[in-house]
Amino acid sequence: MALGPYFCGRFKAIFFMKTNQTFTMIKPDAVRAGNIGGILQMINEAGFRIVALKYTRLATEQARLFYEVHSERPFYGELTEFMSSGPIVAAILEKDNAVADFRKLIGATNPADAEEGTIRKKYAASVGENAVHGSDSDENAAIEGAFFFARTEQFWDRN
Ligand code: CMP
Repeated sequence: MALGPYFCGRFKAIFFMKTNQTFTMIKPDAVRAGNIGGILQMINEAGFRIVALKYTRLATEQARLFYEVHSERPFYGELTEFMSSGPIVAAILEKDNAVADFRKLIGATNPADAEEGTIRKKYAASVGENAVHGSDSDENAAIEGAFFFARTEQFWDRN
């Protein structure tokens, strides 16, 4: 009986931990333009909690690996060159309905189609240089978060 809460906690951690998380990168264009602070503020004001945060730079090979799912697309070379062209900020974010709510917050991939009040409307210049990345599913959020962060670099404000 004494171990009940422990196993219950482990069960929850393993099966439910990722469903309210998403992964984001503030891309090199937004970092170069000095928009890290503004973007993090919009993320905080939208109710996302930061689980992990890192300022780093991708080597071209790492960018190619991260975006491997797009390797057949004509823009793959351009995308991976751009993503390794300067520092980025990587983060794991947490909120109910994180993946969908974050995609709403960042707006359409092409900033020309992004709605008013979205991050890309405010900070993105083009479909290639669109300021932020947001995971498109819970599964990819977990994969992308693990690409950048060890478990020891992830923190939850939970009891
Ligand atoms: P992101 O959310 O990081 O996921 C894949 C990225 O590919 C996307 O944002 C865009 O920046 C980029 N992308 C999508 N379509 C194009 C395109 N037509 N030309 C250049 N880059 C693109």
